Amino acid sequence: MIGIFDSGIGGLTVLKEIKRLLPFYDLVYFGDTARVPYGNRSSALINQYAQEDANFLIKMGAKIIVVACNTVSAVALENLRNNFPVPIFGVIQPALRAALQVTKSGRIGVIATRATISSNAFTKELKVLNLHGKENITDSNINVPAFVRRQQQIKKTADQKIKIFYQIAPLLVPLIEENYIYKSEAVKIIKQYLQPLKKEQIDTLILGCTHYPIIYDLISAKMKNAKIINPALQVAKELKDFLLSNPDIDRSLSKRKQIRYFVSDLTPHLNDIAKNFMGQNINLEKVEIT
Ligand code: DGL
Repeated sequence: MIGIFDSGIGGLTVLKEIKRLLPFYDLVYFGDTARVPYGNRSSALINQYAQEDANFLIKMGAKIIVVACNTVSAVALENLRNNFPVPIFGVIQPALRAALQVTKSGRIGVIATRATISSNAFTKELKVLNLHGKENITDSNINVPAFVRRQQQIKKTADQKIKIFYQIAPLLVPLIEENYIYKSEAVKIIKQYLQPLKKEQIDTLILGCTHYPIIYDLISAKMKNAKIINPALQVAKELKDFLLSNPDIDRSLSKRKQIRYFVSDLTPHLNDIAKNFMGQNINLEKVEIT
């Protein structure tokens, strides 16, 4: 079983892509809806929550964990990898790798939550990619030929000067959850967030928060000169590559097309948001994880 977690239900955008690319695999999702948002919290608390979330998935039988949350990927990924003996995927490196492949000018923009931006994760990961050429997704010995191959392509781009421009966009999460995003006030806010990045003439924009792919069209319409990177799609592709390169791990995963969705708090409104994210009704189950 593949475990996927997020601070809330934004990570369903990641699950959706994984389900599309790996349709037979059993998946278990956990959204920490009782404690969302993580994006404005301290690093200590984000780390604590992330451990508890991952622990729940491991108890449920997850053999791989996908951290479908940019904030947790930015702040707590290393600790998770040190504490859990399974491959753990974050969303930052896959997004960055994709951005490095498409950027021509080397000017890459990122919109994300406050915690993700202040962690400086994208700049740090850029250094890791340049230095080591690949990501350590786990401490155990696992083949990563697909990553290495992709890395060789990236190397060409990484040699040119890469500059990353950040923009905190904290209002987008509640606007998306309230389905308020197409109202003129919301469109104005999006425009304001994107303006500084436009001014910097970025040619690539990473949607550095799990909720943002929901408004992909709105953002790409406002950023006509930039390629938009959806990390959800990238991490699903890398997970698929990884399973192809690691048949032993692949064989250990159950493939009965079963998906369970757990949340730590459940309201009727949450069901509506989940439907909006998935494009269909899903059965959310409430669970206590602490
Ligand atoms: N899931 C978070 C992220 O991708 C956004 C919501 C939050 O702040 O918890 O950064």
